[in-house]
Amino acid sequence: MIRAIYAGSFDPVTKGHLDIIERSSRVVDELIVGVLHNRAKCPLFSLEERVKMLEEVTRELPNIKIKSFTGLLVEFAKECEAHVIVRGLRAISDFDYELQMAQTNRIINPELDTMFLTTSLEYAYLSSTTVKEVAEFGGDISAFVPPYVEEQIRRRLQN
Ligand code: PNS
Repeated sequence: MIRAIYAGSFDPVTKGHLDIIERSSRVVDELIVGVLHNRAKCPLFSLEERVKMLEEVTRELPNIKIKSFTGLLVEFAKECEAHVIVRGLRAISDFDYELQMAQTNRIINPELDTMFLTTSLEYAYLSSTTVKEVAEFGGDISAFVPPYVEEQIRRRLQN
């Protein structure tokens, strides 16, 4: 039984995240999507809203669970009894940070491995920050996020 964690802020979940969720869920038996409650950040959506959006957009996928967490990812993985962390790599510029994170996590818990998936090319440019910026200026974000998420962003920004 391979249980993996795909963690992030998901503020909000994008089609790039969904691409990694769908593809990694076909490789593992169970994928837990961990939504980070980060006190330092000031997110557009609350933790509960981010969890709800993820539940909505993954409802067709049979082996996905959405959970929130605070603190260290390695601790969350331990609680979930998961030994694999999934990360998406969009471009070489992601690599330094991802390598540092994977190695740090593995030193803290040598039983925990990080599995990288390269993001599909059509989403290689995409980030939640870009989506929010385009939406704030009234731009079309339908190519970047699922319709449910688009609706939530529009409501939040009222445009
Ligand atoms: O949304 P992001 O920036 O891709 O998510 C990054 C995330 C949540 C995976 C990372 O910040 C994280 O694991 N945070 C939890 C705290 C932690 O474990 N930090 C040490 C990482 S080396």
